[in-house]
Amino acid sequence: MPEKLPTPDEKLQLEFNRWAEQGHGETMERHHLNITEKTIRLMDLRPGERVLDLGCGAGWATRLLARLVAEGPEGFGQVVGLDVADEMIRRARVASKDFENILYVWGSAQQIPWEENFFDKVLSVESFYYYPDQERALAELFRVMAPRGRLFILINLYQDNPYSLQWVDKLKVPVHVRSSAEYVELFKRHAFENVEARLIPDDTPTPDDYQTQSFNSLEDLRAFKRVGALLLMASKPDLRNPAPGYTIY
Ligand SMILES: C[S@@+](CC[C@H](N)C(=O)[O-])C[C@H]1O[C@@H](n2cnc3c(N)ncnc32)[C@H](O)[C@@H]1O
Repeated sequence: MPEKLPTPDEKLQLEFNRWAEQGHGETMERHHLNITEKTIRLMDLRPGERVLDLGCGAGWATRLLARLVAEGPEGFGQVVGLDVADEMIRRARVASKDFENILYVWGSAQQIPWEENFFDKVLSVESFYYYPDQERALAELFRVMAPRGRLFILINLYQDNPYSLQWVDKLKVPVHVRSSAEYVELFKRHAFENVEARLIPDDTPTPDDYQTQSFNSLEDLRAFKRVGALLLMASKPDLRNPAPGYTIY
């Protein structure tokens, strides 16, 4: 019998399980915290809101979100962390056992295992360019977001930051490299409203003795941080139907 080839999601699972086993799930906090905190401030989170952290990795950002939506006058907020790598999910659960308002789910952005019209806000940090079919992920996000829900997709790898392109060849899984304008167009095509792209520079200092394998030089790394990450923001319209042309998977 010929061996069954892994699906694109299974390849991502294998690769990111390897990252998790090497401890990258936790160390990514150091690399992404500055730009994530700036994004979270823009999310204007309120106690009682329901939030999805898509591609949550080891869950450090999920925990930041959970603190902000926890119990308050408007009720008990809940955060769902979803990741395709089960080893990331396992580690996120261990690190979050003191949180009553977090649920980690193993699954793919291509088929989000959740009900329709649920999430008030969605955050995704450094994950969206890995999704094999970004259009399908957007249709899924549209489905699970509440009417007027807000989407915040933060990515460090995109065409307009030339320094980010240095690490494409070093990755062991395929990625999308689109421009900011292409992403805005894509989100609009998926019926999202108020689509906006913003640059989020990382202003953490890079010490002179910092070791980097991802960039050709420390100067390139510093330039990459100065240009910043791309934050894509959008709203779901005030409706409960699936997006036009949505396919049930
Ligand atoms: C670079 S890591 C970022 C993790 C986390 N957001 C952080 O900033 O630390 C990318 C994450 O996206 C997840 N991921 C990749 N493809 C995915 C997919 N199709 N569905 C869900 N998660 C995915 C990976 O497993 C990995 O945990």
